[in-house]
Amino acid sequence: MAIALDQRLHLSQSIGMKILITGGAGFIGSAVVRHFSRGCGFGVINLDKLTYAGNLSSVEPVSNLPNYIFEHHDICDEAAVDRIFRAHAPDAVIHLAAESHVDRSIDGPAPFLETNVKGTFTLLECARSYWCGLPDSARDKFRFLHVSTDEVYGALGAEGQFTENSQYRPNSPYAASKAAADHFARAWYHTYGLPVIVTNCSNNYGPFQFPEKMIPTMILAGLEGRQLPVYGDGKNIRDWLHVEDHAAALYCILTKGVPGEVYNIGGEAERQNIEVVESICEVLDSLIPNGSSASYRDLIHFVSDRPGHDYRYSVSCDKLKNELGWTPSRSFEEGLIQTISWYLENRDWWRSIQKRYDGRRQGLG
Ligand code: NAD
Ligand code: TYD
Repeated sequence: MAIALDQRLHLSQSIGMKILITGGAGFIGSAVVRHFSRGCGFGVINLDKLTYAGNLSSVEPVSNLPNYIFEHHDICDEAAVDRIFRAHAPDAVIHLAAESHVDRSIDGPAPFLETNVKGTFTLLECARSYWCGLPDSARDKFRFLHVSTDEVYGALGAEGQFTENSQYRPNSPYAASKAAADHFARAWYHTYGLPVIVTNCSNNYGPFQFPEKMIPTMILAGLEGRQLPVYGDGKNIRDWLHVEDHAAALYCILTKGVPGEVYNIGGEAERQNIEVVESICEVLDSLIPNGSSASYRDLIHFVSDRPGHDYRYSVSCDKLKNELGWTPSRSFEEGLIQTISWYLENRDWWRSIQKRYDGRRQGLG
């Protein structure tokens, strides 16, 4: 086993940069792992605790590649994280591990403080200690990419967009924990010079998303003939980005971004929740008609609102477009068809999750 690991490390060194990706068994993390290990040929070390949201089958397409290694640990475990830095000597970190669901943060905020704040702090400290010991040329090239959310900026009214200069006004326990982590990341750049870059991204959708988030919740409920639970009046607005476009944006920022800077990432696809749900129904109607003349729309059901529900998110990604040349590659409509088709073709993936997750309404406090 030890010999196999050494061989893998040696091979990945010859392939190019080695990236430590935290949370690589999650929704976005697994897309980033697939993008960097298969698409870019980087050495990838995936550090993940495998919480309810972690799923190794999401990285199964790359798990046998010689440039991929999995480390099953908690980012709060300082000794383990420290060892991982020294054993694998990464050239960069992409930090995605987090508790990520707003509804869960309403019901139980403690794990959000633990993983998102203390875990980020632990990772920053271990990265700093490792980075301080690097030779000058490697220190200059090292990057710590901290992946965060637009939700740290709070809620917008009908007008305006979040920019990198928007004030932090987190409203949910999830957003508060991510905001705190962003501040730690920023402080480690300003105080210690650790080459940190922070990204704040809008809502992601796509294959391999855990079915507690809105889009997979609606797809699976539709496929199983259950009600589609729309919170409140369904008029809340989110800006949707396909997860593979997010992975491409992170590649662009890791390779071209400037340490100490913040980059917002958005999908330029603002939709009311009810519009998204209606679009899902339309795609389901065309891909797998119900048999009778009934539409999946008949399953739409308005339920009580989320406490403190942010009204609108909208992200300007002008800085990322103008300075680093990134743009989203697909429209929301194309991405939604691809995503729904993926859930139709990968029933085993979500059925195995359903054995341990019953889909019950969360976040009523
Ligand atoms: P996810 O919940 O799907 O995955 C999180 C992953 O982190 C899981 O694999 C889990 O096992 C792992 N993890 C959790 N706690 C850990 C710990 N203590 N130690 C090690 N691993 C741990 O999350 P996601 O939706 O893929 O989000 C990934 C990141 O992107 C998060 O930081 C989130 O805040 C951010 N983000 C998400 C979105 C979105 O729409 N999902 C948008 C913007 C930013
Ligand atoms: P979600 O996917 O939980 O992401 P976030 O809260 O981080 O934006 O929710 C997206 C939107 O969809 C949000 O406005 C809440 C709403 N929503 C529903 O209407 N029904 C649902 O079952 C879920 C999970 C969310």
